[in-house]
Parts: sequence; C-alpha cells; structure tokens
Amino acid sequence: MNVNGDEVMEHFKNPKNMGEIADADGVGKAGNPTCGDVITFYVKVDGRGRLKDVKFKTHGCGIAMAISSMISELAKSKTAGEAMRICRDDIVQESRGLPRNDMHCSNLGFLALRRAIEDCLQKSKKGVW
Ligand code: FES
Repeated sequence: MNVNGDEVMEHFKNPKNMGEIADADGVGKAGNPTCGDVITFYVKVDGRGRLKDVKFKTHGCGIAMAISSMISELAKSKTAGEAMRICRDDIVQESRGLPRNDMHCSNLGFLALRRAIEDCLQKSKKGVW
C-alpha cells in the first residue's frame, strides 16, 4: 500500500466514524468501476441543517477508507452547504503530503458524501424529516 502523510496513516490505523446510521436522513453511495471499490456515506442532520452525525461503510482500499474517515471528521458539525464544499485541498492540507496518484481513491468519499447530503436535501423538500 502506498500511503504518505501522518494524518492519513493515523486514519488508516484508527478509522473514525465507520459504520451505518440506521435512521440516516441521507444516504449516498459511490463506486469505482475500475477497481470495484464502493463507499457509502450516511448523514444525520439537526434542526438547523448541521451534520450532527456522519458515518461511512467501505468495501475499498485502505487509502479510500482513510480518506473517507478524514472526510467524515471534517464534515461533522458543518452545515450541509459547508460539507458539500469539502474538497481535495482540505484533505491534502490535513494529510501534509498525500501523493497525487492516490487522489483518485479519495474521489469515492467526496462523491458519496455529496450524494448523501443531496439525498438528505431532497427528503427534506418532500417533508420526509
Ligand atoms: Fe479502488 Fe483505491 S484502489 S478506491
């Protein structure tokens, strides 16, 4: 495995927020057809639109898992709009040296989180929660 950066290694060894939120307000999934990896994000929102809980499940490589763990930590307590804007630069800044050729593995986490938030926003418009 090709992992650089103390922060990424820490999240690889001790991933945060792994699991499922049974009564999630939004669920989003993203997969990479090339490697077959899939990540699912779950979000729970409070009455003011802040993400009060964020979890993820992964059938993916270690880097995708570590990056998803970092994304989940960054997203917690942000508004839905703020969490939608979490990007590669935030992770690169956190990881202090993530190799560019491993960045494609992080795309799954960003995409899955955005889809979970979009799912949440659609449900809120329909008055589901
Ligand atoms: Fe599939 Fe990293 S190798 S996401």
